Amino acid sequence: MTTAAFRPRVLTGDRPTGPLHLGHYFGSLQNRVRLQSEGAELFIVIPDYQVLTDRDTAEKLPETVEELMLDYLAVGIDAERAVIFTHSSVPALNQLLLPFLSLISTAELHRNPTVKDEIQHSRQAQVSGLMLTYPVHQAADILFCKARLVPVGQDQLPHLEATRTIARRFNARYTRGGSPLFPEPEALLSAMPLLLGTDGGKMSKSRGNAIALGAGEDETAQLIRGAKTDTERRITFDPEHRPEVSSLLSLAGLCQGRDPYAVAEEIGEGGASRLKALVTEAVNEHLRPIRKRRAELAGDRGYLREVLARGNARANEVADVTLAQVRTVMGMTY
Ligand code: TRP
Repeated sequence: MTTAAFRPRVLTGDRPTGPLHLGHYFGSLQNRVRLQSEGAELFIVIPDYQVLTDRDTAEKLPETVEELMLDYLAVGIDAERAVIFTHSSVPALNQLLLPFLSLISTAELHRNPTVKDEIQHSRQAQVSGLMLTYPVHQAADILFCKARLVPVGQDQLPHLEATRTIARRFNARYTRGGSPLFPEPEALLSAMPLLLGTDGGKMSKSRGNAIALGAGEDETAQLIRGAKTDTERRITFDPEHRPEVSSLLSLAGLCQGRDPYAVAEEIGEGGASRLKALVTEAVNEHLRPIRKRRAELAGDRGYLREVLARGNARANEVADVTLAQVRTVMGMTY
């Protein structure tokens, strides 16, 4: 078969602001592993510069990056085949930001709903230029390797739209008549229902309301015990009227491969305490092999550094080629 040569390129990434949690796992990591097993070529950016969108400094980057790598490898991303790299290690990728910035208006930047939400939750009193323009930087992450598919959560869709716009405008402006330089990437959303944080708000590693993949079983139990629910004893799956209870039911359902209605039925009049006990058991059970592998890998930091160094080298090769093409079509060959 000759089809083996076709390996669709997939790019995605996660800010190094803390360990990955169940929302990442069901929303994106599972999709990445599935695509990998179907033969996709996986690129994963660890966007260290992007951490500075809503805070002055990025703390403990080396440790946080290691934690992310542990999460990736523990869930089944193949260290031998995937390209895992850090933003700041790939200068040519970063240089794409400049021509890309010229292709988008300030009005478009101000309209981005995800950026607006992040500004509201920002730790900074002022909105930095990076906050406003990081979706364009993200377009460079995706386009430098000409990725076709981007597995992400719902909140990233505006950035994908900006990326498609930039690709289209770049092609129209600089490669008109010739073959387009950049493909327009597609977002790949998982079918995951909305999982809320334990406080009932958006699950987020920086909001302290998420269950980390690498958390211990007791810590997991404690987090779920403290989760917001409601006062109605009978447990029902009703995302619109009972978002917190329904999110917990969805989580149990995802872990056990069951319908959340069936989970609710089983709990019946058991109330929030029975619900929480069941969710805790389901989460800990599902994550046990992942956590075991994570702990094993944590013992070999040298290996993690080696995987990252290899990824960075490969990302640089790819970015250098793309930047050379960009300079050529823009007439910047001196
Ligand atoms: N914005 C993403 C986040 O907040 C991280 C990210 C950076 C990303 N570059 C990307 C995601 C490119 C998908 C594709 O976690």
